[in-house]
Amino acid sequence: MSEVSMLQEIWTEYRTDIDAALESYLDLGPNCPTKLQEAMHYSLMAGGKRLRPVLVLLACEACGGKAVDALPAACAIEMIHTYSLIHDDLPAMDDDDVRRGKPTNHKQFGEAMAILAGDALLTLAFQIVAQDVQPQDVAAACCADLAGAAGAAGMVAGQVADLEAEDSGIKDIQHLEGIHRRKTGRLLSCALSLGARIAGADWELRNHLVEYGKSVGLAFQIADDLLDVSGNSETIGKQTQKDADHGKLTYPSLLGIEESRDKAKQLIQDAHERLKPLGEQGQRLAALADFIIDRDH
Ligand code: IPE
Ligand code: IPE
Ligand code: MG
Ligand code: MG
Ligand code: MG
Repeated sequence: MSEVSMLQEIWTEYRTDIDAALESYLDLGPNCPTKLQEAMHYSLMAGGKRLRPVLVLLACEACGGKAVDALPAACAIEMIHTYSLIHDDLPAMDDDDVRRGKPTNHKQFGEAMAILAGDALLTLAFQIVAQDVQPQDVAAACCADLAGAAGAAGMVAGQVADLEAEDSGIKDIQHLEGIHRRKTGRLLSCALSLGARIAGADWELRNHLVEYGKSVGLAFQIADDLLDVSGNSETIGKQTQKDADHGKLTYPSLLGIEESRDKAKQLIQDAHERLKPLGEQGQRLAALADFIIDRDH
């Protein structure tokens, strides 16, 4: 099978299940205020790529587990990712008007509701993992992984460093890499850890997958920076040229476009190396890694 058709198969096969599971988790009952439910639904179901949840399912299968067992954790990570986007777009942060091809959450529902929808998606994620991941010790480990990846020493730390760098500037490439690895890499590589844990993989195999995730995560943010410079805003569903407007130093602004592409390609090669112990079982993860740098959205 060609890599293009393998990717096609991955997107159609997994995304339908992910979207259906997300929909059912948003059925929050009469105690959830209608406006809040609408705001959560609006961003969560606006049509993201679902890369992180797909990675959870693929990692689980690559380690010999069943994708259906990893579906709750897949939904949880997509909720945390969506919360991070809602807050990232707020006027106090990147101040963006378009996300996933639609007005940003705060443009649609107001800032207060956008903040609260983000809060509610973040907390719902942990409830889902605690209640629906089995066995319970794996659920606890998954909660700890997610909290570490999303929290004050993970994604939130990266977002803080990203904002601080708007004023202080970026010292060097190591500084920029540290920001990207935290704001994007930590949550993305957590997807691999969750899938491996749910499949019952041993530490060594999980570590290979997490290292794959770290390389793919950094390459993913480099690709995001490149798309901000030269992508098509219709295709990517958000405004372009925003990083320069905000004085954000990015890979292309620090290294130039060609060198940034080379760096991303190198990272994807590193990711492929990490899949070697998996043999055939790693094929789909390999195809997904290639998509990260070839993508136009
Ligand atoms: C955008 O993530 C924010 C970054 C971490 C670079 P995605 O490009 O995965 O956004 P969606 O989920 O497809 O909207
Ligand atoms: C976002 O990075 C990272 C997180 C949301 C954690 P960006 O600010 O570059 O993402 P976009 O370009 O707005 O999607
Ligand atoms: Mg940002
Ligand atoms: Mg942003
Ligand atoms: Mg960006």
